[in-house]
Amino acid sequence: MNAPETLRPSDAAASASAPTTSALAYQSGFGNQFETEAVAGALPQGRNSPQRAPMDLYPELLSGSAFTAPRVENRRTWLYRRQPSVVTGAFHAYEQPFWTSGAAGGVAAPPDPLRWHPFPMPDEAAANGGAAAAVDFVDSLKTVVSNGDPDAQTGMAALVYAFNRPMTRRALMNADGEMLIVPQQGGLRVTTEMGLLDVVPGEIALIPRGVTFRVEAHDGAARGYICENYGAAFRLPELGPIGSNGLANPRDFLAPVAAHEADGAPYEVIRKTGGALWRNAQAVTPFNVVAWHGNLTPLKYDTKHFMTIGSISFDHPDPSIFTVLTSPSDTPGTANCDFVIFPPRWLVQEDTFRPPWYHRNVMSEFMGLIHGQYDAKPEGFRPGGASLHNCLVPHGPDADAFEAASTRALTPQKLDHTLAFMFESRWRFRPSKWALHGGALDANYAACWGALKDKFKPA
Ligand code: FE2
Repeated sequence: MNAPETLRPSDAAASASAPTTSALAYQSGFGNQFETEAVAGALPQGRNSPQRAPMDLYPELLSGSAFTAPRVENRRTWLYRRQPSVVTGAFHAYEQPFWTSGAAGGVAAPPDPLRWHPFPMPDEAAANGGAAAAVDFVDSLKTVVSNGDPDAQTGMAALVYAFNRPMTRRALMNADGEMLIVPQQGGLRVTTEMGLLDVVPGEIALIPRGVTFRVEAHDGAARGYICENYGAAFRLPELGPIGSNGLANPRDFLAPVAAHEADGAPYEVIRKTGGALWRNAQAVTPFNVVAWHGNLTPLKYDTKHFMTIGSISFDHPDPSIFTVLTSPSDTPGTANCDFVIFPPRWLVQEDTFRPPWYHRNVMSEFMGLIHGQYDAKPEGFRPGGASLHNCLVPHGPDADAFEAASTRALTPQKLDHTLAFMFESRWRFRPSKWALHGGALDANYAACWGALKDKFKPA
């Protein structure tokens, strides 16, 4: 049977070259064993690799864990594609100097708290003498902070993107880490080997290490954050005494259904491996998977479905109670990276200072703001910006937030219309050269604590 020639999720909603916001079909459940076919009968039954696969498709295994990883962590997917992904052509070095990797890609910085103004959209950057105005997702990626080492499969980078051009006949495959995409402004159509995802601010997309994908904006331009996780794949945190429900529930994670597109003009695939970028020109679209089954898959998640837990008596729990996903390290309870959100929630504690307390944590904290205000920094921490509080760097509410929270009537209070997030890592971050000198650094950040006077009143 001839292969169909259109990109076709099972709801036939999408055209790869003209992203739309029409509703896509998804399959539900974090880590589930999915099976999906864009053409009925394309998926082999009862075995993975028959002598001749249905419709003369090529079976191809993509493993996301070592073959012998424990079953609960084992991830792999069987792809049935029109041509195997070995049909590529040679790769050549690709220059994208802003996407740096690991501790070695950063620079030394003093142990000060750091904060960045909103990172500029491409048009704003060009107006200020920055890069060219038209840029796509890949070329817009910039590392803000990073740690670890992609070759050692440990650590992570926090990146930002801000683009206004589609990735026409262009795709990205990252062998260094999975990509947790956190949109801040503008919705995204994410085309992957396994199908299509639409995500908007408030949602996240998770692209496994090694899955080829491309990103376009629903409305021309978009901005957001990315955690490039070199370490163990993100998973749901253990719930302990919370029990069998709560925080991010598995059923709210959505995987795509199979979709494939017609071949045509040559494709350029950018591969990242060992901290370096490479490009090729291939006659084969990487989005030619007609059917697949397995549990290694892109996912999307709407943070509105996060069941937030907090104190209903006094004090507030550690922010680990807001963990959506965790990438463990080899030390129990000490994450390579936790993805944590600060969503809308009720504050009802009695006799309690309700914002975050002043603290110095051994874990390092990179934060971003999707929309609204963050309760510890109502003014200077703005949507599209970021902050870094590295290992044992003191921080906490600014002076105005401390004064307000110390004196307000403690009636039940809804923190609403806000969404902040944190990438928290056991490894100290190093900012990139661009982060320190690219123009977005808030040179006056530390002044927000300057008005905290000694108010000690001995009895
Ligand atoms: Fe903190």
